[in-house]
Amino acid sequence: MRVLVTGGTKGIGLKIVEQFLKHENCEIHFTGRDQESGNQIVKKDSRLKFHCIDTSQREAIDKLYQDIGAVDVLVLNAGICKDTLFLRMKDEDFDAVLKTNLYSPFWITKAFLPDMLKKQSGSIVYLSSVSARGNAGQANYAASKAGLEGMAKSLALEVGKRNVRVNVVRPGFTDTQMTAALPENLKTEILKHIPLARMAQPEEIAQVVFSLAIELSYVNGQVVTVDGGLTLH
Ligand SMILES: NC(=O)c1ccc[n+]([C@@H]2O[C@H](COP(=O)([O-])OP(=O)(O)OC[C@H]3O[C@@H](n4cnc5c(N)ncnc54)[C@H](OP(=O)(O)O)[C@@H]3O)[C@@H](O)[C@H]2O)c1
Repeated sequence: MRVLVTGGTKGIGLKIVEQFLKHENCEIHFTGRDQESGNQIVKKDSRLKFHCIDTSQREAIDKLYQDIGAVDVLVLNAGICKDTLFLRMKDEDFDAVLKTNLYSPFWITKAFLPDMLKKQSGSIVYLSSVSARGNAGQANYAASKAGLEGMAKSLALEVGKRNVRVNVVRPGFTDTQMTAALPENLKTEILKHIPLARMAQPEEIAQVVFSLAIELSYVNGQVVTVDGGLTLH
């Protein structure tokens, strides 16, 4: 099985790569912008292939497809946030987040989907966020993730008859570099609203991504929330 995971150099993406590595017959391609991290990770196993690209650049995607070719599983995980209050949000901050979190998954899916349709087999998983429901200070991020969910469900309706499944994982507050930058008082405040009273570990998100991608063969067009109960409130 050939797999592509975007943003596999750290955080949730790295754990997704490691989950697939446990599966014997996988060749795992992953992207990131940090060449050194990629080099270190591929040393773990010859089935790992690193592609150092900025997926927010349209031109980079055609080359990525030329380098990799057809895959069976696509995990669109790479994402960024540039949080600030709405009136302070600059056009470039809105643009950068939309390019990385929404346009890039659109471009990459367009590049790799035709092979899946021809083969009549494939599975795509997108990484959204509980912020897709709306979150103060994250208008750009929330817009990108809500857009991603709408795109995924629309695609699921189009390609199901060709045996290509499309699903979304919606993590809550997860212990990665993305959340490490948050002020301690804000983290403490968020934790008060999580019934499990702790952050997710990235591997707990990766397990769900892996299951949706290759094990749960009748789950399609779903958004699976993995947030310790945060959004029950
Ligand atoms: N952490 C959370 O609490 C949380 C919650 C909900 C949803 N999520 C979502 O889960 C996904 C993973 O988040 P994370 O917390 O693991 O983030 P992270 O630790 O910051 O890692 C992000 C990954 O994306 C890659 N990336 C970012 N921009 C890229 C670009 N333009 N081109 C190529 N690669 C790029 C990074 O690669 P390099 O560093 O090598 O550039 C890195 O591998 C994201 O989509 C995020 O929105 C996270």
